[in-house]
Amino acid sequence: MTVSIQAIDSAPGAVIKDVDVARLDDATWHEIYQAFLQYGVLVFPGQNDLDDAGQGNFAERFGNIEKLGPKQKGGTTQFSNTKPDGSLAQPGEYQYELIHGNEGWHTDSTYMPLASKAAMLFAIVVPPEAGETGFADMRAAWDALDSATQHKLEGLSAYHSLYYSQKDANYPFTTDNVYGFHDKGAPLRPLIKTHPETGRQSIYTGRHAYGIPGMAPDESEQLLSKLLDEACRPPRTYVHQWQTGDLVVWDNRCMMHSAFPYDPQYPRILRATRIAGEEETELAPTFPDERAAAFNPTSSNESSPAK
Ligand SMILES: [Fe+2]
Repeated sequence: MTVSIQAIDSAPGAVIKDVDVARLDDATWHEIYQAFLQYGVLVFPGQNDLDDAGQGNFAERFGNIEKLGPKQKGGTTQFSNTKPDGSLAQPGEYQYELIHGNEGWHTDSTYMPLASKAAMLFAIVVPPEAGETGFADMRAAWDALDSATQHKLEGLSAYHSLYYSQKDANYPFTTDNVYGFHDKGAPLRPLIKTHPETGRQSIYTGRHAYGIPGMAPDESEQLLSKLLDEACRPPRTYVHQWQTGDLVVWDNRCMMHSAFPYDPQYPRILRATRIAGEEETELAPTFPDERAAAFNPTSSNESSPAK
């Protein structure tokens, strides 16, 4: 199979064409994985025939599937504003607030003991305009910092919590013990991450991060906000305008991402898979005894955290 890998102009990421991700030979898979490590985000347009099983199988090449909630079966789940009766989730509703909370730059699953290694989204239904997903290269953001700032950040950590980020987005939740709203406490994670495969350093933060130990809350919030704001700017960002049949995969260990708003009168359905991080490198130091397999969501309350 001859695969076309084209770097995106003036932005992170690459577009991969002439490939069917459900039918990869080993050489092509190796090429794709090297591109994943190099570019951080990969766009596969035209994967129109990709079904749940095909997406799950492709995801398993990257690692173990992360279970996103009690409703997930197999390797995928849907991030959708469409309710079971066919109507669309509206402001004030749980499903709406989970989806739209993600309209802020973040790193997936940092609020869980074990953060994600990677994630993928497949476009099933997209709005006629807007509703993009943005990606920001945190390796480049780290490289752009002066050495004094780098030195200051290297010793710092932050707590990560979905309670915190949803409240900050004006969508506060009380505990219901579903995925993300667990009762295990907030993981504490270093602000700078060394990529376990490439060795590159990157800023590791996002909307779930807060409360840097040793700083007053205001000082911590100002530092984290400034860091996020300055990191997630061109040329370090790529904003993907979805077309039906697009599959996008990113390396959650060095890229942040954000959902972009869209008109809630339109349906938007993305099929998602997250790949669990390696315990050696994505398990929060605050949870030395946790194991991902030990986490078992106990409630069937509503949908999963959304893109
Ligand atoms: Fe996300």
